[in-house]
Amino acid sequence: MKLLKSALLGGLALLPASAAMADELNLICSADVVICEKLVTEFEASHSDIDVNMVRLSSGEAFAKVRAEARNPQTDLWWGGTGDPHLQAGQDGLSAVYKSPMLDKLQDWARGQAEVSDFHTVGVYSGALGWGYNTEIFAEKGIKGPACWADLLDPALAGEIQIADPNSSGTAYTTLATLVQLMGEDEAFEFLKKMHANVSQYTKSGSAPVKAAARGETGLGIVFQHDAVSQAVAGFPIAVVAPCEGTGYEIGSMSMIEGAQNPEAAKVFYDWVLTAEVQNMMPEAGSFQIPSNASATPPKEAPDLKSIKLIDYDFAEYGSAERRKALLARWDKEIGSLPLQ
Ligand code: G6P
Repeated sequence: MKLLKSALLGGLALLPASAAMADELNLICSADVVICEKLVTEFEASHSDIDVNMVRLSSGEAFAKVRAEARNPQTDLWWGGTGDPHLQAGQDGLSAVYKSPMLDKLQDWARGQAEVSDFHTVGVYSGALGWGYNTEIFAEKGIKGPACWADLLDPALAGEIQIADPNSSGTAYTTLATLVQLMGEDEAFEFLKKMHANVSQYTKSGSAPVKAAARGETGLGIVFQHDAVSQAVAGFPIAVVAPCEGTGYEIGSMSMIEGAQNPEAAKVFYDWVLTAEVQNMMPEAGSFQIPSNASATPPKEAPDLKSIKLIDYDFAEYGSAERRKALLARWDKEIGSLPLQ
């Protein structure tokens, strides 16, 4: 395909630079790298006129990149990752307004994400938070599998928990915002301080903790349940837990970047990735989120959101620039600064 493309570009040498560049798409992908690569491969196969340059970044890192590039955007489209930083990007004027013709094909929660952001972002998938633990490690150590957030404070779990850093990871920010909504802000920080005694590492990427648990490097990873399911489906001894007190969830989102150099290519990908056909491919890449297209089939392995006690997660509040910044600053001061055991 590259060869064909160079030949075509050779023939277009007399066209203005902007026309020759119209077939590039600079994409940030904030979900798992396997689904990111699959989407790029499938898209290029069906759109041979558009070459995608993809970089995989965690949600918070992606937000930081988009913000850093605000005066000279290098990114056209940001797909995936938790909704909160997408909402903040919309509020900060970093993402563009786009009303996709696909909007009326989406689930209410996905269209709601577009409406709440004045069409700066849209829902692409959803999934509930929880954790996965390595049943072999727990059995060997004689520790009972934790069923509730409160169980994560058990001293028997010393050094066994991994969770990501909420500055880089949307998964970890969703955890922070979930605990604040479940317990109240001061109580949530007290909880996180106590849980810190059991944490061996704050990783950069949100799903890394359960991948480490699958390999036996740690006992338990706090992650989206579908990321724990992926490890179990891959054959690792991982049990998936929906916390008994209730839990938060993500509306994985997508945003076009304000001032993007390739807005037309970005729109083509945007509309394509919202189709049922594309969303139905996600399980083939080990991605078991609930798809946002109402006609797509939720993977049979996906945790059933109806059977999980979900909180009424306030996306507008916790995606607001002010709230997100303040919570992250407090996390840095009170949790991130604590020495690891
Ligand atoms: C995983 C999940 C996605 C989620 C993403 C957030 O890839 O499968 O559903 O949106 O993590 O990544 P982050 O690294 O920002 O926590």
